Amino acid sequence: MNTTYDFSGRVAFVTGAASGIGRANALAFARAGAQVALADLSADGLEETARLITADGGQALTLTCDVTSEDDVQAAVDRTVARFGRLDAAFNNAGVEQPVQSAADTAKDDWDRILSVSLTGMFLCAKAEIRQMLQQDGGGAIVNVSSGAGVKGFKGQAAYAAAKHGVIGFTRSAALDHAADGIRLNALCPGIIDTEMIRRFGDSRPGGREGLIADEPVGRLGKPEEIASAVLWLCSDDAAFTTGTALVVDGGQTL
Ligand SMILES: NC(=O)c1ccc[n+]([C@@H]2O[C@H](COP(=O)([O-])OP(=O)(O)OC[C@H]3O[C@@H](n4cnc5c(N)ncnc54)[C@H](O)[C@@H]3O)[C@@H](O)[C@H]2O)c1
Repeated sequence: MNTTYDFSGRVAFVTGAASGIGRANALAFARAGAQVALADLSADGLEETARLITADGGQALTLTCDVTSEDDVQAAVDRTVARFGRLDAAFNNAGVEQPVQSAADTAKDDWDRILSVSLTGMFLCAKAEIRQMLQQDGGGAIVNVSSGAGVKGFKGQAAYAAAKHGVIGFTRSAALDHAADGIRLNALCPGIIDTEMIRRFGDSRPGGREGLIADEPVGRLGKPEEIASAVLWLCSDDAAFTTGTALVVDGGQTL
């Protein structure tokens, strides 16, 4: 990331912070000076993200949290505010992949799991974050992770695409609800980013990793840091007039 943002004195909350895109974003917020709350199911992964942040001179709070639980999410936001005093930026990123399966072959259990983490989990986080931001001076900025599968269909990905389209619909409407409150909500749609999720997904589908690279017009997978630069911009004052958008960062995959 070449651009330097200044988040000093600000507090960021990142879900799915134990791995991949979430970890890269947590590190980027910390390097920009934010105090960062890290939420995830994986306590070990959170400890590693926190270790990387503190080794770099930053401040992190780890919060073991299941984003599908309203109580867990509320407790995580409450602990963030108890520790750091406020909440300025949130990146709702926790999600799970769908095995490649046709709509007709999609088990209801898979549908429920994918929708509950990637859509309901995002809603529960955004709701708790907005309620905190309404109580403090200065509002805040929220970025919800969608996907290329939030703006077009992908074969074998009906449940995942339904969740990710839903993220954009929620984000647009909530952005309207809270624009006058000084709270901005945007969605971020990554292309194929080189993370554990994509390693698992690549291994499970015909064509593997090479097939995923072939789907990217720029001829490579994206880096988690390339998502972090877009998220930090969306949460920065430079994006003060940007709300309700779905920003696609995908190497041309959805063109
Ligand atoms: N990697 C990609 O190519 C790509 C592309 C588009 C969108 N996305 C989205 O970006 C997000 C992050 O993906 P990633 O590639 O970094 O995946 P990842 O698997 O590396 O990380 C996902 C993290 O979410 C956490 N998580 C899962 N369920 C949770 C729950 N119920 N509560 C709390 N945490 C939970 C996992 O423990 C993990 O740490 C996901 O929402 C994914 O759908 C990824």
